[in-house]
Amino acid sequence: MRAQHGQVLAIIGQGYVGLPLAMAAVDAGWTVIGVDNFEAKVAQINSGSSPVEDISDLKLQSALASGAYRATDDFSSVTEASVITICVPTPLNEKREPDLDLLKSAATGISPYVSDEALVVSESTSYPGTLREIIIPIVNSLKPTNSKRVYFASAPERVNPADTAWNQKNTPRLVGAIDAESKKRALAFYESICDAAISVSTPEVAEAAKLLENTFRLVNIALVNEFTQLCSISGISVQEVIDAASTKPYGFMPFRPGVGVGGHCIPVDPLYLTWWARENGGAATFVESADSINHAMPRYVAERALGMVGQGISNPKVLILGVAYKPGVGDVRETPVSALRNHLNALGAVVAWHDPLVSVWEGSEPVDLDWHCDIAILATKQPGMDIKQLLVKGIQILDCTNSFNGTLGVTPL
Ligand SMILES: NC(=O)c1ccc[n+]([C@@H]2O[C@H](COP(=O)([O-])OP(=O)(O)OC[C@H]3O[C@@H](n4cnc5c(N)ncnc54)[C@H](O)[C@@H]3O)[C@@H](O)[C@H]2O)c1
Repeated sequence: MRAQHGQVLAIIGQGYVGLPLAMAAVDAGWTVIGVDNFEAKVAQINSGSSPVEDISDLKLQSALASGAYRATDDFSSVTEASVITICVPTPLNEKREPDLDLLKSAATGISPYVSDEALVVSESTSYPGTLREIIIPIVNSLKPTNSKRVYFASAPERVNPADTAWNQKNTPRLVGAIDAESKKRALAFYESICDAAISVSTPEVAEAAKLLENTFRLVNIALVNEFTQLCSISGISVQEVIDAASTKPYGFMPFRPGVGVGGHCIPVDPLYLTWWARENGGAATFVESADSINHAMPRYVAERALGMVGQGISNPKVLILGVAYKPGVGDVRETPVSALRNHLNALGAVVAWHDPLVSVWEGSEPVDLDWHCDIAILATKQPGMDIKQLLVKGIQILDCTNSFNGTLGVTPL
């Protein structure tokens, strides 16, 4: 189903979620206004330079040139929209609890400009009840008096940056709305941009499903991270064990160990779940335990790497390869490599890093692969990183990515 000509969509937040959504909606026939309160990002986007790896400059430039897309920091343009989606970050605060300040400010920003009969959808990840208890009261209390009827739904985004198989269009979308008319409109919107929109009974079900999906990944990664340490003590290759278990045709899904978990979703969303559990008088102890195991991995990796360096070297030079939280992106949010670097420094190492997709990280700049080191840690396997250069020089590599199993000079985690 394509959008009817001239239908206007406003997307609040033009990041990893909002910009790909904008391009998908343009492809589906929508006129899209991308609202972002970060002025420099708006200028960058409008100049045709994409801040998101999955959207090429060419794609963005063609959307801008067609007149079907523009970015702005002016919330009043929301007035033109029949559908408004909120795609702003939902991080943790310093107590590692949900920080909904940006979501609240986005809801507050759009409210005076929500037109009558508009549909407001939250795509941001949050705990169940966020749409009904936070967003709807803000919008209803601040909307124009002549906007008599506003519709609401929750449709958590599932995009997986740098995934070449699954994207906004072919990943089914969950939609939970507050009433029948909101549901009808939300399904029609998502059916216009996705191959499949799946209706669930309430926004809370959609919000909870998103937390379950990402918590599933967190606990399985923790399981395999813990299992890795047990295998290592016994001299068993965890990768071979995972390969072996994967031959079972049902009931097993392979997850691989690594430096930890990173990005805006996997380390963060499960803590929305643990907080929500506590708020409701429950406890998500299993999830909390998984979180602790993943947090202990950077130290484990640091100790494993330094254990591979010759005894006589008191301040070993360690080169970290890949600092982004996953391959193919330059996104360093919540990267576990940050804790890895801190542990290495605390253990007396001199640390440098190399990542072709990251130009500055925590105030430091990358080094070239010819930086002299005693050991290298492959933390994230970025495209275009020729680590064979190091092997030729006889430098040992601790591979946390399962990329070079069986290669001389490479020790898998
Ligand atoms: N990145 C992912 O892989 C992914 C996947 C699925 C879901 N999500 C969820 O989607 C949401 C957005 O994540 P993201 O990765 O796109 O974040 P992002 O940081 O890449 O982009 C968010 C954008 O929102 C803008 N912004 C912040 N506050 C704003 C406000 N009040 N008004 C207008 N603009 C504002 C920022 O300037 C930024 O450009 C989060 O809830 C996240 O958990 C992310």
